[in-house]
Amino acid sequence: MTDTSAQPRVVIFDTTLRDGEQSPGATMTHEEKLEIAGLLDEMGVDVIEAGFPIASEGDFAAVSEIAKRAKNSTICGLSRANFKDIDRCWEAVKHAKSPRIHTFIGTSPLHRAIPNLTMDEMADRIHQTVTHARNLCDNVQWSAMDATRTEHDYLCRVVEIAIKAGATTINIPDTVGYTAPRESADLIRMLLERVPGADEVIFSTHCHNDLGMATANSLAAVEAGARQIECTINGLGERAGNAALEEVVMALKVRNDIMPFATGIDTTKIMHLSRRVATVSGFPVQFNKAIVGKNAFLHESGIHQDGVLKNVETFEIMRPETIGLTAKNIAMGKHSGRAALRAKMKELGVELGDNQLNDLFVRFKALADRKKEVYDDDLLALVSDSDTHEAHDTLQVRRLRVICGTEGPQEAELTLAIDGVEHSIDATGDGPVDAAFNAVKMLWPHKVNLQLYQVHAVTEGTDAQATVSVRIEEDGRIATGQSADTDTIVASVKAYVNALNRLIERRKKSNPGDDVKTVDYRDAG
Ligand code: KIV
Ligand code: ZN
Repeated sequence: MTDTSAQPRVVIFDTTLRDGEQSPGATMTHEEKLEIAGLLDEMGVDVIEAGFPIASEGDFAAVSEIAKRAKNSTICGLSRANFKDIDRCWEAVKHAKSPRIHTFIGTSPLHRAIPNLTMDEMADRIHQTVTHARNLCDNVQWSAMDATRTEHDYLCRVVEIAIKAGATTINIPDTVGYTAPRESADLIRMLLERVPGADEVIFSTHCHNDLGMATANSLAAVEAGARQIECTINGLGERAGNAALEEVVMALKVRNDIMPFATGIDTTKIMHLSRRVATVSGFPVQFNKAIVGKNAFLHESGIHQDGVLKNVETFEIMRPETIGLTAKNIAMGKHSGRAALRAKMKELGVELGDNQLNDLFVRFKALADRKKEVYDDDLLALVSDSDTHEAHDTLQVRRLRVICGTEGPQEAELTLAIDGVEHSIDATGDGPVDAAFNAVKMLWPHKVNLQLYQVHAVTEGTDAQATVSVRIEEDGRIATGQSADTDTIVASVKAYVNALNRLIERRKKSNPGDDVKTVDYRDAG
């Protein structure tokens, strides 16, 4: 194994909880944000961007609590280029052992036009706001939003101003995923060469994936001298997302021969984080996604299988264990006991308390009765499922029978507990899922837009569990729900009801639209 201790260190800045959570529908609860932040901290992420404190009370509370709890990571919050945002951000991050204020403004012609600032006025604003942030906090990051479409001369000018005003990290975002690797490298090189004081700060890259080049662009920037990569777990983020943490970290590890840079990431924690983020954000990972996709280590063709059996390196450039995937996939049988289940879950990176273990054990036994083989992925789906259904939920699915087949109409008989009181109804629909969802609507009338309904098989075989993800929207509030069951219709109804329960929680806590980040990025003043 290569000794990377003497290699330049690349700061890994994770923005899953800010840019990632900004993707419509990926909103996480307070507890989920704390859990993800805890896992990122344990994994060795250098900087966690925990949220956008001015965006909502919820964001502020999450950033403050994450700041209080962080053991190792620097905790950062985002703020626009105005004193109010920066003060609010500081109020939230100041609790951290190592706080950072991140402030940004759009510097390209398109972005300058919106707040209608001249080049000079914007330069002045940058000087004032970075100075203000630096008076509050020693660690200040400044971002030139849409840097890759900003005139070079102007970019050099404003970067120099930010450095002189005290910024310690200069972030050069490719906000719209427009750049390409060579250009990304040239831009960083140009800034390092031309801007006075550039050698005294860390240059950072923040690449969006609109053209599928985010990871390549980030790595090219590092080769040119950037020393911070902003990324998210599973590449979550606005539109097509951001550079994926697992991709940049594993690329630096596996191709350390040509990219000799070190990170502080414990890569064995990657798979667990990826699964947790997929569950809590409601954004499942595509099967063929690099590193963390379900197929990333599967070999299907005969030639590949044969090669791997003879020498695993023929078709594998990294070992699954490196990212925390256990080699042994057949997990547990009907006769396995509690101790074996606890040990297995520990191996999968899930630590369970006694009550959680008892609950999982009951559900595992029920599954083992229905399914011949219970795989690691089945167990993880069970854990995620129990995480998403709480005893205090307003709506709880008690019983469901569905009649379907070639002769319609399809029918669903549903018993739903609403605030603990059981109600039953029969409904019909255009297919069994529609019938079952109609039954929910009749028992608990509501008007929501169903934005996404997605079914995945957890493992292979006709007895596989299905995981269902549902995303709904009501007055700008978005809620996602998930569930897993060997019966696809049961999983569908539970996922739908889970999304409704989350919506009910949000109705209680927020005003319409609060879940969608309505902070106006143009409001720099
Ligand atoms: O994409 C972007 O430019 C951003 C900034 C706020 C850093 O997310
Ligand atoms: Zn971004």
